[in-house]
Amino acid sequence: MALTHGGQLTQVANEYQIPMRDWLDLSTGIAPFSYPIPEIPDIVWQQLPQPSSALISAAQRYYQCRNISVSSGSQTIISLLPMLWLKENSSSKCVFLPIKGYKEHAQAWKNMGFNLQWYGDELPALEQLPQHCVLVVINPNNPTGKLFSRETLERYQEFIENRQGLLVIDEAFMDVITPSQSMAEYTLGRNTVVLKSFGKFFGLAGMRIGFTIAHQQWLTSIAEHLGPWQANGPAQFIAEQALQNTLWQEQQREKLSRQRQVLTMLLNRYFNEGVEGTDLFLTVNLATPHKAVTIYDGLCKQGVYVRLTDDQQSLRFGIPKPEDVERLSQSLGNVMLSISKLC
Ligand SMILES: Cc1ncc(COP(=O)(O)O)c(C=O)c1O
Repeated sequence: MALTHGGQLTQVANEYQIPMRDWLDLSTGIAPFSYPIPEIPDIVWQQLPQPSSALISAAQRYYQCRNISVSSGSQTIISLLPMLWLKENSSSKCVFLPIKGYKEHAQAWKNMGFNLQWYGDELPALEQLPQHCVLVVINPNNPTGKLFSRETLERYQEFIENRQGLLVIDEAFMDVITPSQSMAEYTLGRNTVVLKSFGKFFGLAGMRIGFTIAHQQWLTSIAEHLGPWQANGPAQFIAEQALQNTLWQEQQREKLSRQRQVLTMLLNRYFNEGVEGTDLFLTVNLATPHKAVTIYDGLCKQGVYVRLTDDQQSLRFGIPKPEDVERLSQSLGNVMLSISKLC
């Protein structure tokens, strides 16, 4: 079954009968400012993509890690991991996942017959984790923004390693966290896999580049299963430059942080409820039944697309560009006014 995600603008535009070009799309956690596409030599388009040691070195420096491999987005690996893990660990039966979080993880483990166990805002207690179990942590979480410290994850890592289980850490949104809580440096054993999504922070999700940081055996096994030419040449060419461009990265962090503050102020104007998130998205939790759905619908009618979470109780807002703030503010103001008249 295909899951609902943000970024499904074609479908939403059809549903609300508003042309695609007229939407303000804040439905994803992808940076609204993207790394400028450099001129790409013809040869990069013409040749089959070669394994690029320059890209790997750039990624090792950027993510501060040793063993790393590239794929076309981290989603490819999310889908593949359960099968690879089960092949080597046939007695592994259960996986712990965040109840709120990117649902493709759950889908992938379920597809391989795993028994899904959910945890809330806190990780399951260590004693709850059985032998050979898998723990998936989205750090920071999307959509809640919940962040676990590296110290906490190291404790879980040690415990899971002793139980011959697997710790999967999805760090798709870690780029904007300072000080970083990344576990990328701590993947020497076979019981930890860290996933990185290039497209979010660099604002180039359509390029489809992601990275896996893990023991070499994992990387070899992934490569064998995926076969050659996983990530296309132009995407690798752009990613190599972007990962090396520390000045652009610094400016991007500042811009995102500034715009997050602007969005926080705007949301605080309309919502008493908690606003949480990261510099790539903010989520408002609405306790009143149907309120999130009503606001979502009201915004869509004005061509503003945000993400209604799967439980339909929260709204996730992508970070708006400065020139889009006024439109968001107006649209949100209109919706909240019409809701207050109804009450
Ligand atoms: C938490 C999380 N992990 C992974 C992904 C997959 O991203 P990609 O395949 O673009 O790297 C997403 C996509 O939205 C996500 O939200």
